[in-house]
Amino acid sequence: MKPPLRTPFCERILYGADYNPDQWLHDPAVLRADIELMKRVKATSASVGIFAWTALEPEPGVFTFDWLDATMDRFAEAGLVVFLATPSGSKPMWLSERHPEVRRVGRDGRRDSSGGRHNHCPTSPVYRAAVSRINRELARRYGRHPALALWHVGNELNGECHCPACKTAFHDWLRQRHGDLASLNHAWCTSFWNHTFTDWSQIPTHDPSIDALAVDWLRFVNDQHISFLKNEIAPLREFSPAVPCTTNFMGTCRGTDYWRWAGVLDRISNDIYPLHADREDSWQKSLDADFTHSLMRGLAGGSSWMLMECAPSSVNWSSVNKLKRPGVHLQEVLQAVANGADAIHYFQWRKSRGGYEKFHGAVVDHEGGAGSRVFRECAEVGRVLRSLAPVAGQPLGRAPVALVYDWEARWALEASAGPKKSPSGDRHTEACMEHFRALRRAGVEVDIVPVDADLSGYSVVVTPALFALDGPTAKRLSDFAAAGGAWIATYLTGYVDEHNRCWRGGFPGPGLREVFGLWNEEVDYLHDDESVRIEGACIDLPGHACGRDIVERLHTEGARVLATVESEFYAGAPIILRNQWRLGSATYVGARLDDESCAALYASIAAELDLPRAKLPAGVVRKVRAGADGPVEFLFNYTRNAVTVDLGEDAFLRVADGRPCRGKTTLRPYDSLVKGVVLSPTPSQPPVPPRHELHPSPLLG
Ligand code: GAL
Repeated sequence: MKPPLRTPFCERILYGADYNPDQWLHDPAVLRADIELMKRVKATSASVGIFAWTALEPEPGVFTFDWLDATMDRFAEAGLVVFLATPSGSKPMWLSERHPEVRRVGRDGRRDSSGGRHNHCPTSPVYRAAVSRINRELARRYGRHPALALWHVGNELNGECHCPACKTAFHDWLRQRHGDLASLNHAWCTSFWNHTFTDWSQIPTHDPSIDALAVDWLRFVNDQHISFLKNEIAPLREFSPAVPCTTNFMGTCRGTDYWRWAGVLDRISNDIYPLHADREDSWQKSLDADFTHSLMRGLAGGSSWMLMECAPSSVNWSSVNKLKRPGVHLQEVLQAVANGADAIHYFQWRKSRGGYEKFHGAVVDHEGGAGSRVFRECAEVGRVLRSLAPVAGQPLGRAPVALVYDWEARWALEASAGPKKSPSGDRHTEACMEHFRALRRAGVEVDIVPVDADLSGYSVVVTPALFALDGPTAKRLSDFAAAGGAWIATYLTGYVDEHNRCWRGGFPGPGLREVFGLWNEEVDYLHDDESVRIEGACIDLPGHACGRDIVERLHTEGARVLATVESEFYAGAPIILRNQWRLGSATYVGARLDDESCAALYASIAAELDLPRAKLPAGVVRKVRAGADGPVEFLFNYTRNAVTVDLGEDAFLRVADGRPCRGKTTLRPYDSLVKGVVLSPTPSQPPVPPRHELHPSPLLG
């Protein structure tokens, strides 16, 4: 659990954006207008200075804090708070040119040029020292400033560097992990293709033909980021121990095992940009956003977390940058709050005039005032968030089901040739999201937990595509079932150990063949346009139930057969099985089921186990969060169609217009309803201020 929240975090839902005053120092009128405009949208906060290193330190050791002093003071005067960034996300040119070793090197051995961002070497002592120095200066100067609420450390730390310093550090890391070369060679099966290493220096940072190397490399990269983060945080904690530190995560980012980062931080925060396509199946994507939010809740140990970046309108980096349809943005924000967010921040406050992101959505457009549709929508969001203050800082309840998301299993699967790759190349995450969606479609609440979580208190544990697992993990999961829990595993479970070596003695290993009462003899990978028919033997599946992409050839060794494959040369073979394991059960789903069948499977499991369940039409989602004066309930229509539901006698409020709804109610497309808070009244259309009021000097320059 994170330390208890302090003000301003528990007073209200914080609302703001990434703010770059350093881009507008030539036009003080803009800076003044920003504060006025922030008040109009009911903003509480802004993340300042994320890419402002050169504005703060134009030459090594020369600091220009005047503009930041003025910004901090302006915020304090206006009653706003600052999430002050450390500027390590992009390197100053002077540093990058003088010390090329701070620049990242690619797999091809080529060093990056000075530009870009998020491309520093995480190992470089020079970069670490420079970051430490600027952070120390910032902390010393602003650590006790009344406007400072949070340290925003760096930005979206991720990626890998293959420079000589990283390579040496990797070798040291491997020595720590494996002890001697003989043990490493054994663990990595290097006799295959004559890869035996006879000196540490021979070990590369990248070789796709060594599938264990890939996993250890990502473990190392992850550890380097964590130690880089600790180096950033040390001076901040020294000068401002009471100010919490966060760094903005990127959901299920590949090389970052955030389970291991969470302990270093005081607050968990995340950036998410769901691309809302406004299509018939877009509601499934909204469930994927719920997955990411639940992951953040899990990383926060069940406490609230912060949505540090989302787009107030369209992004600029997708192939088609579609505007969000009416209702979508408000719903996305409320969805995050319902899932535990205590802060909603945008990228970005104001569109830059130039640079790569000049067309990225912002609260304030190039037009510059409060008259745009997006600005009005953001003001509306600000008003609604004020009404939701009772949920701020409140703990979140525990779900009956835990779903395991495991970066290491993902890396092992990704590094292994053979299993059919998913479109994104990330089969583990997709399997987790599919099973999460199916559980939510069945109306069941789900927590996302790490593989070593304390599982006591959960009724069900779901481990989708847990490809890699070691003996102790298999034992802990088996013990959960033995003690009366229901463990549900899927295809691609228990193929390899922690070194990406196959388990011997038949899959699933280790020892899980007995727990699941089956043998997974082989696996059929299907082309995209192929599927196998699946029929429920003891469970109700839809008539068109099918398996796609991955179909394992299972044999029961005592498990009860719940469903079989009814096509292909293995027709009649079991595909969903359940074994009684001591006081509990172990269920195995051997194929990638279609979404509806997977939801039907969970509906039947929920009914059998008598799990609490919301019975709602597909795409309608209910979420409850504790509030200061009792629970606050949210109901969302994620679909683009009108859907009728029965709300019973308790009145919900339609967030868009504050109208009460009860009994049979037709939810509009992308509608959001709330119960348990008082919504402040929608003001009659706010007058659009004359442009000169906001911008005493013309912005065209
Ligand atoms: C984020 C990044 C922001 C901005 C945003 C655009 O990944 O942290 O600085 O670039 O994307 O969507």
